[in-house]
Amino acid sequence: MQKIKKVDSEISYSEARKTDEDEIRNMLRSLGGDESNFELSRFVVAKSGKRLIGCGRIKVVSKDCLELASLGVLSECQKRGIGSHLVRELLAKEKYRPILLLTSSDKENFYKKLGAVIIAPESLPQAFKEEYRRIIALPFAEKIRVIAMRFE
Ligand SMILES: CC(C)(COP(=O)(O)OP(=O)(O)OC[C@H]1O[C@@H](n2cnc3c(N)ncnc32)[C@H](O)[C@@H]1OP(=O)(O)O)[C@@H](O)C(=O)NCCC(=O)NCCS
Repeated sequence: MQKIKKVDSEISYSEARKTDEDEIRNMLRSLGGDESNFELSRFVVAKSGKRLIGCGRIKVVSKDCLELASLGVLSECQKRGIGSHLVRELLAKEKYRPILLLTSSDKENFYKKLGAVIIAPESLPQAFKEEYRRIIALPFAEKIRVIAMRFE
């Protein structure tokens, strides 16, 4: 990925810089995104001018286990293809596969269109199985169906 990629006249995609950290953390807090094992260099950000409007990362869960995580786009900027573009940038940047993710079943189609397939929780690698169990035990998971998916 180029350092800064202009996609249209308004939105640019780039690897995160030190100056983006506060805005990324604020966005993750407001969207309830994952801040654990925060490694700035693994984030890609979307900006409208200088304003951060979206982010995502490939998180290292364990030696052999990567996760697409912390994906978020400001609500007023959603449904314009920004989230999909962030995922494509992240997948292009990371050559190792598989890349796993946990999401709610209402986002299954969003990730399917980007190439992910559903996997059974039983076949998850141990480190990720623990993450899956942790997530489904959280109060918000009572109201949704958590699914695991994989990019090959
Ligand atoms: C999930 C999320 C990142 C998607 O971001 P986004 O920028 O809206 O993503 P996109 O615009 O690429 O795609 C979203 C939908 O809009 C549609 N879309 C994309 N461009 C569009 C356009 N120009 N007009 C209308 N619809 C469009 C896509 O087809 C997609 O539809 P689908 O959900 O039925 O597959 C965003 O909704 C979000 O931040 N949610 C809160 C945090 C969250 O849930 N993160 C994911 C945790 S796993």
